[in-house]
Amino acid sequence: MSTNITTRVILTALATTVLAIGIPAATHAGESDKAAAVDYTGMSPEALAEHLMLNTSSFKLDQRVQEGGTAGKRLEQDEIQKLCTPLRGNPVDSATAEKVVALARDSISYPEGGIQLGDWKLGRELAWSGFGFRVGHKTDDHSLAENGPGGNCYNCHQLATDRTGGNIGPPLTGYGKLRGTSEPILKYTYEVIYNPHAYFACTHMPRLGANGILTSEQISHIMAYLFDPESPVNK
Ligand code: HEC
Repeated sequence: MSTNITTRVILTALATTVLAIGIPAATHAGESDKAAAVDYTGMSPEALAEHLMLNTSSFKLDQRVQEGGTAGKRLEQDEIQKLCTPLRGNPVDSATAEKVVALARDSISYPEGGIQLGDWKLGRELAWSGFGFRVGHKTDDHSLAENGPGGNCYNCHQLATDRTGGNIGPPLTGYGKLRGTSEPILKYTYEVIYNPHAYFACTHMPRLGANGILTSEQISHIMAYLFDPESPVNK
């Protein structure tokens, strides 16, 4: 069985997503008939994963997602992903970085009237929320509800000291207190949240603005959470 590398990466990503949202039991009508016709025992793990995900409805590729379109659409790589995937975690070379940064810069749109700080309390809600790019599943009642807006920041960053955050990204504790609120620092922060590849080519941080997860207004609230002297981030 020769599964090419791209399929393998996609399947790994799908497997992670499916595990994260819980594997629905494959008991849909017709599913058991289809399953019965397939000899799982002779399959490699890759072939089995490919079969379960692409040929059965255990992972619903047609379910709607927050950025519009369907979950299946996420398997199509965009230009930045096509440039970054072949690196496979190796350091980004300067030619690739230049292309990625240029694409990222082009993707950024700025709010009318300039970059403003919104309401840090709304920003905290968004930063705390695990929504943002999630597929369907709601953890509180396990319904397949409309995705809410969310930044998912805490999964990767420590921000305030009243909640533990992840360490995939650098700690942002005391962000505004340490950096001030000059125009260049506000612009930098807006751009990093909108499309972090503009500064960190092939980063693991999601493109929250460019991928339609957060609106400019929602970014302004998260920025207030980072910069406002009253925000717990700066206490
Ligand atoms: C999947 C993990 C992940 C998520 C989710 C994430 N980030 Fe990041 N973030 C990173 C990583 C990693 C970096 C470091 C950039 C690099 O080197 O790749 C970073 C960098 C940053 C920086 C620049 C750091 C600096 O010192 O200037 C800011 C600001 C930032 N993130 C804010 C946010 C905010 C706000 C959110 C939520 C809306 C968020 N991030 C969500 C991973 C993440």
